[in-house]
Amino acid sequence: MKKRKLILDVDTGTDDAIALMAAILSPEFEVIGVTTVAGNLPLPQTTANTLRVVGLLAPEIPVVRGCAGPLVRDLDPRRKYCDNEESIIDENGDCIAFHVEEFDMLPPASIRERETNAVCWLVETLKSSRERITLVLVGPQTNFAAALRADPSIVEHVEQIVIMGGGFEERNSSSAAEFNFFMDPEAAQIVLGCGADIILIPLDATHHAVLSAGDVAEMRSWNTLVGSFVAQITEERIKAYNTFQPLFKPDSASMHDALCIIYLLDPSVITKSQRGHVEIAFGGGASDGQSVLDRRSCAQPANCLVCLSTDDEKFSRTLLTILKRAK
Ligand code: BDR
Ligand code: CA
Repeated sequence: MKKRKLILDVDTGTDDAIALMAAILSPEFEVIGVTTVAGNLPLPQTTANTLRVVGLLAPEIPVVRGCAGPLVRDLDPRRKYCDNEESIIDENGDCIAFHVEEFDMLPPASIRERETNAVCWLVETLKSSRERITLVLVGPQTNFAAALRADPSIVEHVEQIVIMGGGFEERNSSSAAEFNFFMDPEAAQIVLGCGADIILIPLDATHHAVLSAGDVAEMRSWNTLVGSFVAQITEERIKAYNTFQPLFKPDSASMHDALCIIYLLDPSVITKSQRGHVEIAFGGGASDGQSVLDRRSCAQPANCLVCLSTDDEKFSRTLLTILKRAK
């Protein structure tokens, strides 16, 4: 079987960890590297969490630290930093949040990050690869946007880009924007305009890519480290969704980033999609980070395939089958 070569760009983050695990545990892929970016947590934590996950399952895969902040956000005083990381303390004194700071339920990282920066590593790795590589971008798009700025010709070495980002009927970070695009809208706009074959997986699709309380029970019954880890973070995400953003299915949690991996394995997990032209608003103000799909009859030429809904049963079944492979 010819394996598809993947690079994952992550801001790990609980759902990023599940995407990473699913990619590594799928024999259909050869994960040739993982790059980290600031997003769900500051860069030192997203890198440390990534090292724990990769070190546990595939210590030979390089992990490379990338950008510590967005391309220009800090330079624009009209912008406020994203305050997405909602968390509260419940009546038992437990913190309810979407992302845990440290993956201390996994063993300490058995590997170290590479001594280079992800932007340089992406340029060098793409340019020296004889085969085209698929990029899975599930954090703010900063690393690949900076790589494109450094050397736009890298796009010729890209097979496909699968992006978790944006939302058309759904939003989470602001009344207009999804988190990854809100965190670095300029980067998202650069990546969407790069001319590659892009699959965009927004909140409209990922809010149906859920694991439920029933899935938590099943994962615990495997008695594996991966099963218990994913069960624990799913349980915490379920509490956070029930508290802050109830989903279509009670007691369930969206695993946004993992949908990118399941899509690559089986595109029929997406039940509605359309090719279209998407742009990201980056002028500041209320629409900052908003993804805008040109729906006019005279729309601009499509720059991506937009995924709009998900077969939630197929998603959870496929994901659990993959995670169960870990010893
Ligand atoms: C995205 O934001 C992050 O919190 C998740 O990891 C996902 O990539 C969803 O908006
Ligand atoms: Ca993410």
